[in-house]
Amino acid sequence: METPRRTVLAAGAGGAAALVTGCSKYGDEGGGSTSDRSTPAAPDTGGANEPPKSSAPAGEKLAQTSAIPVGGGKIFDAQKVVVTQPTSGEFKAFSAVCTHQGCLVDKVADGTIDCPCHGSKFSVESAEVVDGPAPRPLPPKQITVSGDSIMLT
Ligand code: FES
Repeated sequence: METPRRTVLAAGAGGAAALVTGCSKYGDEGGGSTSDRSTPAAPDTGGANEPPKSSAPAGEKLAQTSAIPVGGGKIFDAQKVVVTQPTSGEFKAFSAVCTHQGCLVDKVADGTIDCPCHGSKFSVESAEVVDGPAPRPLPPKQITVSGDSIMLT
């Protein structure tokens, strides 16, 4: 039993190492050829030419706007966020954690965000409680729509 597992692990590690080596070599060549024009003799500065951090996006990208159905929504389990589009072009985001006992909502259908645990339903437009034992609306979350990307901010 142990021998086949070891063999698989060793092969996996070797493959990963080869991939990393290949990538970094390729990147160094590309960066060196463009940056060496301004710095005459600097063969080892490949790593110093990283792009500035300002190019990083302002928030975590959740989805394309086209992934959110009009009149419905989509749940992002990892971020515990539900994004809805009550009317075309209008996007809203709420916590996906039910205000009753903390289950994650698991469905958006028929204009409501539904919790599987005890049947609470929340409006896709306002996250107000429509049905069930939940005592409060789902708290709002901040998103930014940039072009066709929805970012969690
Ligand atoms: Fe959602 Fe009870 S935890 S309805």
